[in-house]
Amino acid sequence: MDSYDVAVIGAGPGGYVAAIRAAQLGFSTCLIEKHGALGGTCLNVGCIPSKALLESSELYAIARHKMAEHGIEVGEASMNVARMLGRKEGIVSDLTRGVAALMKKNKVTVLAGKGRFLAAKRIAVEGPGGSQEIEAEHVVIATGSQSVELPFMPFDGERVISSTEALCLPEVPGHLVVIGAGAIGLELGSVWARLGAKVTVLELLPRVVPLADEEMSKTLQRSLKKQGFVFALGCKVTGAEVKGAKIEVAYDDKKGTAQTMEADHVLVAVGRKPYTDDLGLETLGVQTTQGRIPVDERFHVGVGNVYAIGDVIRGPMLAHKAEDEGVAVAEIIAGKPGHVNYDVIPNIVYTWPELAQVGLSEQEAKDAGHEVRVGKFRFIANGRAKTMGETEGMAKIVADAKSDRILGAHIVGPRASDMIAELVVAMEFSAAAEDIARTCHAHPTLAEIVKEAALAVDNRPIHS
Ligand code: FAD
Ligand code: NAI
Repeated sequence: MDSYDVAVIGAGPGGYVAAIRAAQLGFSTCLIEKHGALGGTCLNVGCIPSKALLESSELYAIARHKMAEHGIEVGEASMNVARMLGRKEGIVSDLTRGVAALMKKNKVTVLAGKGRFLAAKRIAVEGPGGSQEIEAEHVVIATGSQSVELPFMPFDGERVISSTEALCLPEVPGHLVVIGAGAIGLELGSVWARLGAKVTVLELLPRVVPLADEEMSKTLQRSLKKQGFVFALGCKVTGAEVKGAKIEVAYDDKKGTAQTMEADHVLVAVGRKPYTDDLGLETLGVQTTQGRIPVDERFHVGVGNVYAIGDVIRGPMLAHKAEDEGVAVAEIIAGKPGHVNYDVIPNIVYTWPELAQVGLSEQEAKDAGHEVRVGKFRFIANGRAKTMGETEGMAKIVADAKSDRILGAHIVGPRASDMIAELVVAMEFSAAAEDIARTCHAHPTLAEIVKEAALAVDNRPIHS
């Protein structure tokens, strides 16, 4: 029986990063993965394919709606969906093969198959080439998550679809109904809306991205509405009936009135749940809480040398959170002080404009007992945004009124995903708004909006 210092189950961003870091620290390491390609949800059916389609659909929208104002005449733009999907598949396969190459480079043994605990240090791996047993001194569970299904509307892969099918629809639907105005609903809704689908979003709560700062979620909703999104907020979906090549969705609107609407597909995007099927957790005596594997601050599950990271444990289901936990858990196994700062994990919705946030919303900061000062600045007054023709949105910094320490930062706007990094670093170093306000920002850049918002915390913005 082969034995390893560290075995990692699941090759998503949590698992493969944990395996690399463990190998860097000198451990003999294996990575067990049941899917044909490495990279997990993120690379195969998540972050990467969705961003590839967002990029393609955005270019199409630019060609259709924005080029003319620059004097560029390209004629009638048309979309070859098969080619767009092929490009996306190419990117996915390049990156998943890249992860395989990283494993090779770091001398991590990849075992293809489904891992199941026989004991805390013994794992059965059942793969296409048969089954084997391995032994490991330390085991890291990184088995990720799967889409939540609505009990009265099970996924059928055709009319009722999850994000996985929404990433490869062979043609632009006439009408796509999206249930859930979270990250998946708005990102994949954007892809198909930009390509010409009518997109209706049914959301249980009264606003889109309900966990975001309220002002920012309203700002984003306004922009998406202008792009043609139809929102039915505060509504309760009650059922669906397939009618030939269509599906009829029934819901109670915010006044409680029963409504129906017909669609080509319904994308159910109401969240994801941890995945631990057939993992043999019962053998270890580990009980999940609301599906999540309970861990202590060292990612230890409370049995032997077994740890868990990523979507399968508490916290936001984000690739970079899983990656940071992967590094931390390997360092903890090596006796080092591995650590993740959960207060400064950025969260981004890659719509256009993008929504990027880190730390507390204004309301959360108040609820936590802070007296706050808030600085805002709009893209309409940013020179670079004006030259780009991208003037929707704003930046908002929430600071503690007494210490001026930044508690949260929120941006809706072009390339907000890149701009938030400055604020994440600032918060990691416990910066005050004044630190940003006094830092020179190149002109003309979008990032100047961050400086202006920081100046606005002290009521002294220059350009508004
Ligand atoms: P996963 O990536 O889910 O990987 C788990 C792996 O474990 C899988 O490969 C699975 O096959 C394997 N596995 C499970 N059980 C076993 C077993 N018993 N034996 C062997 N292998 C097993 N996050 C972001 O930060 N940014 C984004 O832009 C973003 N976009 C997303 C878009 C979509 C459409 C979706 C669905 C998700 C997106 N996410 C995004 C979330 C992100 O994909 C997850 O947070 C991330 O992949 C979690 O990493 P993980 O390593 O915990 O698990
Ligand atoms: P989500 O939790 O982001 O959003 C789900 C939405 O559905 C919420 O607004 C919720 O109020 C709503 N909802 C729940 N039940 C409902 C019901 N019965 N009817 C109508 N609405 C209902 O979940 P989503 O979008 O499915 O994504 C899952 C996870 O994947 C995210 O939480 C995120 O962690 C990750 N992800 C991250 C992305 C990113 O970082 N850009 C992109 C896509 C996914």
